[in-house]
Amino acid sequence: MLLPEGVVIDGTTGAVSPSTDRYEKRLSDLRGFFRDDAALDRAIAEGGDPIAYEVIDYRHQASDLAFGTTIMMPGKVGDEFNMTRGHYHLRTECGEAYYTQSGEGLLLLESRDGEVRTVEMKPGVCAFIPPDWAHRSINTGKDKLVFVWFCATDAGHDYGSIKDRGMRKLVVERDGKPALVDNPNYA
Ligand SMILES: [Fe+2]
Repeated sequence: MLLPEGVVIDGTTGAVSPSTDRYEKRLSDLRGFFRDDAALDRAIAEGGDPIAYEVIDYRHQASDLAFGTTIMMPGKVGDEFNMTRGHYHLRTECGEAYYTQSGEGLLLLESRDGEVRTVEMKPGVCAFIPPDWAHRSINTGKDKLVFVWFCATDAGHDYGSIKDRGMRKLVVERDGKPALVDNPNYA
């Protein structure tokens, strides 16, 4: 039987205690998601294939609700800020919430019919992700971006749609600031 418990989340490091699982993605795992492959190769070579982000789960299959943290490193690939792969949920009726704890970023969202929205990620903002909107988080700051996410345990991830087509917009640095631009490679 599952028992209630308090889970300690460190909003600065993203540590979750107790946690049930974790994974990390290195820059090389994100090949195909950034626009500029040559810039990705340079960033991998210069940084020794650094960790781009880490996800820590608190997830029990016997519960409908799961949560955890995502810890995103700062940096850029060419002029694109570090980002997650981005996904739809396999269960299209499942939304999600992202509650930013530290750092700054942008949540980029895209509906199936091509509507694009962003939500600022900064401490105090809990972003609502409606069902069936693709979502990708982007660290536009100089420090780690740490957020807590809450979603259905079995929502599932469809990363392939984003890898195949890309998202309609990119978040790049322009004049020292993040800017939303059209993705020239969007298929
Ligand atoms: Fe999600």
